[in-house]
Amino acid sequence: MPKDIPEPQAICNDVTRSAIFIVATIEAGRDHADKVRAWCGDVAALVRSVGRRVPSGNLSCVCGFGSDAWDTLFGAPRPAGLHPFREFGSGERLAVATPGDILLHIRAEHMDLCFELATQLLGALGDAVTVTDEVHGFRNFDMRAMVGFVDGTENPAGRAAEKFTLIADEDPEFEGGSYVIVQKYLHDMAGWNALSVETQERIIGRTKLSDIELDEAVKPSCSHSSLTTLTENGEEVKILRDNMPFGRPGAGEFGTYFIGYARSPAPTEQMLENMFVGRPPGNYDRLLDYSRAVTGGLFFVPSATLLEALADRDPQASAAAADGGQQPDTSSSAEPQEGGSLNIGSLKGISQYE
Ligand code: HEM
Repeated sequence: MPKDIPEPQAICNDVTRSAIFIVATIEAGRDHADKVRAWCGDVAALVRSVGRRVPSGNLSCVCGFGSDAWDTLFGAPRPAGLHPFREFGSGERLAVATPGDILLHIRAEHMDLCFELATQLLGALGDAVTVTDEVHGFRNFDMRAMVGFVDGTENPAGRAAEKFTLIADEDPEFEGGSYVIVQKYLHDMAGWNALSVETQERIIGRTKLSDIELDEAVKPSCSHSSLTTLTENGEEVKILRDNMPFGRPGAGEFGTYFIGYARSPAPTEQMLENMFVGRPPGNYDRLLDYSRAVTGGLFFVPSATLLEALADRDPQASAAAADGGQQPDTSSSAEPQEGGSLNIGSLKGISQYE
């Protein structure tokens, strides 16, 4: 009999009109950890209960865990690439790390569905968690990001989306899982809108109205599109994004919630380095002159099959079982290696992006 492939969470679902992004920290104490662990077994049922009532609403929830939370809740074994979010850049241009143990990425066609599911999921967690950030995102017309350009065009689709986001035999115990990086950005819209459309197009690397990639001859190497294009052995390495605009015009708040899934944290981290530090250093993403990252987190997304099973995990027992074997590795898998290249655990075990 062929082995059962774990069912992934709803990572590759179609884009929706609405989303809620919730980042929460787990309160100290064993009772709280026990409550969160048990909750893992209820997530799928809550999504079914809310979503069933509006089948066309395409309600889904992806649930991820931060590095420290994984150790507290589940112990060993731990996902090979999971580590605390690494910061990139400095000063005004910093990809900042902020606290976060649990990420909920709730998507639906209608905000009422997202709202109801968020209420149910957080209600079930009760005082075991404190929400540190909650963003309600909306799909802008024309699929345009807050900065006015069409967003998501170069996302991988169909089987390619699965290939780039889902862990396979490189980490067999976590097959069907994924890694997700989130960042909340706030924009200086007055500054951005004061630029000419041509200047904005050179910053993004695409035309604004028609969303066509600029010709290589005119596209600057510091354009957002150039700095986020990675190749490895001549092949492009992609991530799957589902960014959402959000904001409060009355408060002067205009934002983009960035969310990027990949089967290793490495490609998204490399993109962040290219954007914030520059490729080569100094040749950074000018979008960041008008956009400030105010949150940042890395989370592991177990397969749906594993998420349900984690409810019964005993972190003490699993740590004891791993004794003499593999200890939890809390160090980053992306420390600079010899020659300054990043050993970033690539899809094929080769460590260099171009
Ligand atoms: C201020 C926040 C951001 C905004 C407003 C933004 C907006 C955009 C837009 C308009 C595009 C062009 C259309 C498309 O292919 O989607 C794009 C492309 C892309 N962005 Fe971003 N982005 C942001 C942050 C990020 C971050 C933080 C990353 C990765 C760490 C990223 C990765 C990418 C990638 C991989 C592409 C496709 C490049 C290509 O293949 O041509 N973006 N983004």
